[in-house]
Amino acid sequence: MTKGIVLCGFMGAGKTHLGRNIARALHYRFDDLDELISTGTGMRIPEIFTRHGEPFFRQMERNYLRLHASESQRVLSLGGGALQHEDLVSELKSHNLLVFVNPSFETILSRIAGNNKRPLVLAASGKPKTTAQLRQDLLPLFEKRLPLYKQAHIEFVPDPVWSADQSSSALLNRIQLFDHDH
Ligand code: S3P
Repeated sequence: MTKGIVLCGFMGAGKTHLGRNIARALHYRFDDLDELISTGTGMRIPEIFTRHGEPFFRQMERNYLRLHASESQRVLSLGGGALQHEDLVSELKSHNLLVFVNPSFETILSRIAGNNKRPLVLAASGKPKTTAQLRQDLLPLFEKRLPLYKQAHIEFVPDPVWSADQSSSALLNRIQLFDHDH
């Protein structure tokens, strides 16, 4: 495969971990969109949200994604909200194999609950929201984003009993099979 690979999916789906492993196995470079934004702006993601607001972050996300949309032999993991619109999905799909990493919503919740590095997980007080509150707030967001995620070339649903390494091997197999068939 000479194209790039881009991983999309909700927060806590495991995109960064899987992306690193896939890149290592294929001898590709690995990039994480949030890291590119942080390095480029000199601010961590929560700082961008608190100092400049979410709309500014979304604009950065869009700019950096378009800047890095077409790189070959590179695995790029996106933030959960990075796809934003159809145009970005089409642009990414024309230059990359787009993979939707889709564990169950309950798995996602268990991974992100208590995390204070993700602004959407924090209450106005700055403390992490409870799991019940997260479920109530984030399920509608997940459902809103789903039609964009679903346009990926591959939807990968990791089995909850798999270890991280097993998930990476399974995804690598799916990618190689897809590449073989297209
Ligand atoms: C976000 C997901 C985060 C990060 C930001 C916003 C979202 O990335 O981009 O906090 O809107 O879903 P991860 O999906 O890597 O957590």
